[in-house]
Amino acid sequence: MEFIDSRYPSIEHLREGSRKRLPGFAFDYLEGGCNSEINLRRNTAEIRDVQLKPWYLRDYPGSDLKTTLFGKTYDAPFGIAPIGLQGLMWPRATEILAKAAHTHNVPFILSTVGTASIETVAKLTEGNAWFQLYHPAEDDLRDKLLDRAADAGMPVLVILADTPTFAYRPKEIKNGLSIPPKMSLKNVLQMMTHPTWSFGQLAAGAPEFKTMTPYLPKGLSMKHLGLFMNKTFSGRLNPDKIAAIRDRWKGKLVVKGIVNPEDAEKAISLGVDGLIVSNHGGRQLDAGQSTIKPLTALAQEFGERTTLMIDSGLREGPDVANALASGAKFTFMGRSFMYGVGALGSKGGYHTVTILKRQLQQVMEQVGCKKIEDFPQHLIK
Ligand SMILES: Cc1cc2nc3c(=O)[nH]c(=O)nc-3n(C[C@H](O)[C@H](O)[C@H](O)COP(=O)(O)O)c2cc1C
Repeated sequence: MEFIDSRYPSIEHLREGSRKRLPGFAFDYLEGGCNSEINLRRNTAEIRDVQLKPWYLRDYPGSDLKTTLFGKTYDAPFGIAPIGLQGLMWPRATEILAKAAHTHNVPFILSTVGTASIETVAKLTEGNAWFQLYHPAEDDLRDKLLDRAADAGMPVLVILADTPTFAYRPKEIKNGLSIPPKMSLKNVLQMMTHPTWSFGQLAAGAPEFKTMTPYLPKGLSMKHLGLFMNKTFSGRLNPDKIAAIRDRWKGKLVVKGIVNPEDAEKAISLGVDGLIVSNHGGRQLDAGQSTIKPLTALAQEFGERTTLMIDSGLREGPDVANALASGAKFTFMGRSFMYGVGALGSKGGYHTVTILKRQLQQVMEQVGCKKIEDFPQHLIK
């Protein structure tokens, strides 16, 4: 049994620790959803409405958390979702989480706008990390990124369906979020009152979109970076774009952000290998459903034809159990892992995976679930 830091026995404790250690604008960026944050709250609330049936009077040989996904066996049925600007929230957060995922043998997904490069993350994970592509406006840039991910040995490419337009996130607008952080008096005060964060940033150097560095015009001021990024990425996914990527990418291809059966059907017909039912953690459409609802429906219709995964709103190990029981083959979390890094720095990624595994194992032993694929038998419908 792995050691658990008893000061942080749950993700909620890590969240509280991270709230204290991060400057307000960085915590707001991590925590926030779009508009009135209704979808954000609904995600977690509704996944916790799921109820499980225990079996107490039958033989139980013990729990096995191992899960095979796209031909690889992982040690747990959850992975680390792609998060942009990780290094702004905590110095070297991308590297910390990639290493933790690799040590625990769970997948880590690198965002196109993560703060470590494809090559660095591939090295840290011995080629096991997945890559999430924001769709570039230019085919040439798309191909260069795909080729780099393939050359680095990354096995799975994730493309995004749920960001057809920039989100409206009041907290980010209010804080003038930019990279590096805007030097408003309020932001400077927040940095000064969070010295561990500030010294860490000084030591690590200002966070940059490392995968994108070769394509940024020389001498581009940080002020113009946002404009450049807007022009560089085209946002809305469509069948032609999926088909072109499917043609070039020889590894497994996953579409993230699917919640509608028609979209699922289209993506599957274009040859994708899996879908992540996601609403971007409640950051795009406030009137959207919580992801557990479409997951349950999609699992019935498409569960045998594709690999269905889920994220958005899962925080603790029991949330993972509820998602698996509802038909997900695999789960991802974004904020949970960042809370871990915010609270515990370089040890945070490792610790977060450890407690999630322990919490999930406890649920399995409690309900008498032997293997991850047996979870649906425990769903109370
Ligand atoms: C701060 C933040 C940044 C994110 N950046 C990205 C990104 O660059 N690419 C991406 O595909 N998803 C991004 N997401 C969405 C996550 O991959 C994931 O879908 C979401 O965090 C899951 O919800 P959860 O945080 O409730 O677990 C981001 C989420 C957060 C919270």
